[in-house]
Amino acid sequence: MKILGIETSCDETAAAVVEDGRRLLSNVIASQAALHGRYGGVVPEVAARQHLLAISPVVRAALQEARCRPQEIDAVAVTYGPGLAGTLLVGLSVAKALAYAWEKPLVAVNHLEAHLYANWIEEEGNEREPPPFPLLGLIVSGGHTDLVLMEGHGKLRRLGRTRDDAAGEAFDKMARLLGLGFPGGPAVERVALGVNPPAGVKLPRAWLGESNDFSFSGLKTAVLHLVRGERGPAPPVAETAAAFQDAVVDVLAAKTARAARRANVRAVLLSGGVAANGPLRDTLAQRAPVPLFVPPRALCTDNGAMIGACAYYRLEAGRAGLDLDVAPGLPVA
Ligand code: KG4
Ligand code: ZN
Repeated sequence: MKILGIETSCDETAAAVVEDGRRLLSNVIASQAALHGRYGGVVPEVAARQHLLAISPVVRAALQEARCRPQEIDAVAVTYGPGLAGTLLVGLSVAKALAYAWEKPLVAVNHLEAHLYANWIEEEGNEREPPPFPLLGLIVSGGHTDLVLMEGHGKLRRLGRTRDDAAGEAFDKMARLLGLGFPGGPAVERVALGVNPPAGVKLPRAWLGESNDFSFSGLKTAVLHLVRGERGPAPPVAETAAAFQDAVVDVLAAKTARAARRANVRAVLLSGGVAANGPLRDTLAQRAPVPLFVPPRALCTDNGAMIGACAYYRLEAGRAGLDLDVAPGLPVA
């Protein structure tokens, strides 16, 4: 079964063809990062207009790369939430039009659930077993930080979430504060490379007791005080970035490992844009009590492949009519 996956929830116009939920036949992504970079963040109106320009060429390229004619597509899957209402509408409208014209089922996909499914996708020459249930998923993106227990396809329960900033959002704000550009995650990781964090910059970690929730706003404020020189001379940018990254990674990895032990799961899945972060991947691999699944870096940030993969396992539940609306505030479960 070949599914066309379409994703426009934020600033990536993306489409992919995935076979049987696991085999990647094509994966096309038009990033708007450079466009939004000059504003230091995603401008929703600008993003929606850019999706309109990019969506047709991106979908066409995804079909061409997969050497797939429209008749060979079995279903059209699309992100309907969460995300920016105006950008979600572009992908949803196109998906509806294609499903109608091709007379194929339309499948509504939850963007957060789909991030987890990046761990089901196999790359050419890199065959691997699918993750075993029950599993614990950590979804760390620009808008969300969720810890979910997954007992089967469609059987998700949220165990924890961020109480303020998402992990990716914290990276983006940090990068802006330190003058490192947008998107912030890769910029912070790059500048922190090779710095030994405990070198003197001490930053707080919000453990929140026994809770599975997260909080990153206190950390952000602490860095603000440091950078403004309110605690003596401001440390070098690279050291501050490294100490910040260290604090975020430490909390994410420790709380995820603890929740995995408590829930007695068989695997831990890392996913979402922040899952591309090297120190997070390494630290969680060391601390997780069970095997850790991590998607290839290119499938961590937003893409259509994860939408096509998720849709395969959620085909019946996700089947939608042409009256499907966007759900900007949709939770993971
Ligand atoms: O999942 P994603 O592409 O979009 C959302 O669904 O939000 O995640 C984007 C987020 C951004 O905040 C970006 O700064 C962060 O993922 N990110 C990273 C890295 N690459 C992307 N954060 C830390 N380290 C990275 N290497
Ligand atoms: Zn995302």
